[in-house]
Amino acid sequence: MFDHRFRFAARRRLAATLVAMLLAAAGATRAQPADRQPSHAHPLTTADPTGWLQTSTPSGRIDSGNPFFQSFGSNGRSCNSCHRQAQGWTVSPDELRQRFARTSGTDPIFALVDGAVSPVADVSSVYARRNAYAMLLSRGLLRIGMPLPANAEFRLSGVDDPYGYASARELSLFRRPLPATNLIWLTAVMWDGRETFTPFKPPMDAGIDLENLRVSLASQARHAILGHEQAAAAPDDAVIGRIVDFETHLFTAQVDDNGAGRLNSDNAMGGANILAQQRFWVGINDTLGNDPTGDAFDEKSMRLFDDWDDPTAQFRRDPRDRARAAIARGEQLFNSMPIAISGVAGLNDVTGIPVIHGSCSSCHNSPNIGNHSMALPVNIGVADASRRTADMPLYTLTNRSTGKVVQTTDPGLAMITGKWADIGKFKGPILRGVAARAPYFHNGSAATLGDVVDFYDTRFNIHMSAQQKSDLVAFLSAL
Ligand code: HEC
Ligand code: HEC
Repeated sequence: MFDHRFRFAARRRLAATLVAMLLAAAGATRAQPADRQPSHAHPLTTADPTGWLQTSTPSGRIDSGNPFFQSFGSNGRSCNSCHRQAQGWTVSPDELRQRFARTSGTDPIFALVDGAVSPVADVSSVYARRNAYAMLLSRGLLRIGMPLPANAEFRLSGVDDPYGYASARELSLFRRPLPATNLIWLTAVMWDGRETFTPFKPPMDAGIDLENLRVSLASQARHAILGHEQAAAAPDDAVIGRIVDFETHLFTAQVDDNGAGRLNSDNAMGGANILAQQRFWVGINDTLGNDPTGDAFDEKSMRLFDDWDDPTAQFRRDPRDRARAAIARGEQLFNSMPIAISGVAGLNDVTGIPVIHGSCSSCHNSPNIGNHSMALPVNIGVADASRRTADMPLYTLTNRSTGKVVQTTDPGLAMITGKWADIGKFKGPILRGVAARAPYFHNGSAATLGDVVDFYDTRFNIHMSAQQKSDLVAFLSAL
């Protein structure tokens, strides 16, 4: 068995060496002309729409010999079919469209089991495959097929599935792959938390006491191999352990911004190497007062770009100074812009406070990471019927005891617990490296970070100015 304490110390030492190596490499990166270099030149940085994404590993390289990259089943898929470094360890519709064009829709990700809109879709021609894999091609969505739990407090009283497949036996839930990186700070595994083996409780401290997390991720990997990869049997524990080792040693963040330059220069703390050193424990800075140290919640959950705050920048000629100041303003908005949080199941009902005067950091409270530091599944309305698009199934659920009816595109946590109160609840994901992984939310309904910000503006009646929106986007893009 591993001694996690030792591993953590070793990782710190390696990370320090790595910082030095990367700083040297970074000099070279900046000296290059503006056109994007092939990623193999710098295996740890990849281009994305607003700059460069960095993944840091203890060895300073990506171990492509790890079983993460190996196919175990009959369909040729590996974890890497759906979790790609250059797309923030998930997949992007752009890259999927290229894969489709290159292979006429026969790349292993295009598999009926969960790649298609229905597992019985016609895939007999390129034309048919383009329709069958439309959700992957448009929004990078996989079909998670799940039965309604037997003990559910509600029944499925209506199904409107544009693909004619879903029923109580198997609902089709279209979801984005979550990033297979930055995992040591997870407090729930999967959008609905279904692979969270035992609820992670304090004092689980990243890098020291990760046993619960490792057990959960091992279970997740086994299920991925049996499900997504359609393997007849899961590989042995040693192989699973190597996959979990690999993915829990990946750290990913934006390191370079097209406008602002290096995100870790002049006292800024962007990039994956600094991220790998982030202090964390379950409950740290908890909004609801559950920090095991007893410390009160500090709304300044993000403190990466404090030193770039410069009220005079708007008068400067240098566009880089202005871009840096915009990122710093965006960070302050994230921390402090008032949001009247109401109607959020999992938060307003649990606290008994009908309107919580908070901010983005009320939910994204983990310092410099951005998920919630304790499992906090909430319903912010992404799966509401009012936001349903024609390509999504719509489910009507009827409460068995009250007769109440709700419609949703994805019941979320309620598919696991069967509880009426859990309908539409999802976890808030870690926000680092978010620039590389559009589209956003569990169902990819926000095409850009601008759309994410617009969603919140509408959902909580914030009335942000155009300037505030663009500052917030500049900040999110630098994470
Ligand atoms: C066919 C695509 C596909 C393949 C192959 C795949 N995944 Fe995933 N992965 C997903 C999707 C989709 C989700 C989110 C599903 C959900 O939450 O319901 C996910 C979620 C995850 C998560 C959860 C992260 C979090 O924040 O909770 C981890 C970890 C992960 N995958 C690792 C793996 C590993 C390891 C493998 C290989 C053994 C693998 N995946 C294979 C699509 C895939
Ligand atoms: C009430 C809690 C809450 C508040 C307040 C909140 N978020 Fe979120 N955030 C979530 C949850 C939950 C999700 C996942 C929802 C889903 O996919 O269904 C999420 C998802 C996101 C995502 C998408 C991440 C991804 O990988 O798809 C971004 C970006 C984000 N939030 C930014 C913000 C910003 C910026 C603010 C403030 C304007 C904010 N959030 C306020 C709970 C919250």
